[in-house]
Formats: sequence, structure tokens, C-alpha cells
Amino acid sequence: MSIILRTIAQTREHIAAVRGHRLAIGLVPTMGALHEGHGALMRRAREENGYVVATIFVNPTQFDRADDFQKYPRDLDTDLAFCERFGVDAVFAPDAKEMYPGEPLTSVAVAGLSTRLEGEFRPGHFRGVATIVAKLFNILPADRAYFGEKDAQQLAVIQKMAADLNIPITIVPVPTVREPDGLAMSSRNQRLTPDERQIAPLLYQALCEAERLIGNGMHSASVVRQAALALLAQTPAFRVEYLEVVDPATFQPVEPINGAVRVVAAVWLGEVRLIDNLPVSVR
Ligand code: PAF
Repeated sequence: MSIILRTIAQTREHIAAVRGHRLAIGLVPTMGALHEGHGALMRRAREENGYVVATIFVNPTQFDRADDFQKYPRDLDTDLAFCERFGVDAVFAPDAKEMYPGEPLTSVAVAGLSTRLEGEFRPGHFRGVATIVAKLFNILPADRAYFGEKDAQQLAVIQKMAADLNIPITIVPVPTVREPDGLAMSSRNQRLTPDERQIAPLLYQALCEAERLIGNGMHSASVVRQAALALLAQTPAFRVEYLEVVDPATFQPVEPINGAVRVVAAVWLGEVRLIDNLPVSVR
């Protein structure tokens, strides 16, 4: 059985005891609604550490829309059973009062990286993410923390935050896990209608088209972008927020493509916002 920790005091005490046994600690921060993508983070954490702690907290401060926060799937019992299945030793699952007992006056903002793409379309999102992750890192001083490449910009924000604040936790990126039809696993996929679920993998196909063109030596980011957008435009149900070829570290657009890049996209399908990305290198 995974140990369930509800308070910060309990968690600090527990982690101190684990440290006394000289076990390396792997941390998997999540907002619950766990799926195989989280499973990959837990599996990797299990392989690389003597002790694995997952966190389950739907962090209100990173949601830019109240309805998205309200509709975010929550099922703690199912999530705890999932953690158990993946060999997680302890789960920190606080409530909002435990994490935010009063109006917080302090936040962590990673300038530059936080203002483009996801940051532009979800104002305040990365400030909420960087702040809650910094809080979790303070409560749970792990050796390694695991984050999925599906949220590549979030991963870059967290890496920069940890480096800038000298947080002694190694950030471990874990590749995106996909459904057999290519759709990137996401807690929000549960909210797609059956029709939307059928067309959702076209987002991945558009990214694959970009990957194919770049892999074949296309150096023009604008040609790559237009080709991927043209594919998406064949399905009017998609409302594209952005599709760009960016530098994998800064998330600034590149033109021309001369090395490793990331093709990143966000689209709406009905009520659901999907994001995905692929790392690509030009020949
Ligand atoms: O990726 C997530 O699930 C969340 O953004 C995170 C990192 C757990 C912070 O709330």
C-alpha cells in the first residue's frame, strides 16, 4: 500500500525518516487523473530511486479559466490505486487549504520563457506552475523530479526555475506517451466526445508532417508551419491557437531551421484544449 500523506508537517517528518535510511528519493508531481503518461514517470522514478513519492494536487493557481479548474477530473481512490500499481511508496495529497492557508503574496515567475505560446494563451499559468512546483520542492526535497515532455514548455520553465534558484533536485524529462493512434496521453482526453476523440490524433499527424519535412532537409520554418497548418485546416473542428517551430531551450521561433528544434502546437477541439509537440532535427 502507498502511504498517504495529507499534511505538510506529516510529509516533512516522513521524508526526513526516509533520508535517514539513505534512500534516493524520486518525486513525481501530478494533478491526478492519472494515465499511462504518469505511469511512465513513475516507472522511471522507480528504476532510478530507492523511494518514490507522487503528489496529487489540482493546483488552482495555474488555471487561467475557472471552468477548466472545475471540470478537471478528480478521483483520488482511483489515482491511489494507480500509484500503488506503479510501486509508488508514498503519495502527498494535500487539500487547497494545506497548500494555500492564506492569500499568498509570493510567487515564482520565470521571465521570458513564461510569456510566449502557453504563457500567451494561458496568462498566469506558468507563474502558478513554477510557484507550486517550488513549494513542492521545498516540502519534498527529493533527489530527482520527473516531468513529461508532452508539456515541453512547462518542463523548460521548471528546469530554468530550479537552475536559477539553485534547487538541488535533478529534473528528469520523460518522453511523451501516446495512444496507439498517436494522440498524446492527457487527463483532458477524457473530456473529448467520441467524434472528437476520433479526429484528435490528426494533431499528431500534423506534427509528424512537420517532422517529415524537416527530416527531409526543409530549412524554412514558415514552409513547415504552413504545411502542418494546411493539414489541420482540412478538419474544420480544429481551432488552432498556435503551431510553431521553436528553439527547444528558449521557445522562441526559429527561422531558418539549422539544428534541433521543437514543433509545438495547441488546438481546441470542442470544449477541450489539446497541446502536443515533437522534437526534430534538420539533416
Ligand atoms: O503537469 C502537471 O500535472 C502540473 O502542471 C504540475 C507539474 C503537477 C504542477 O501542478
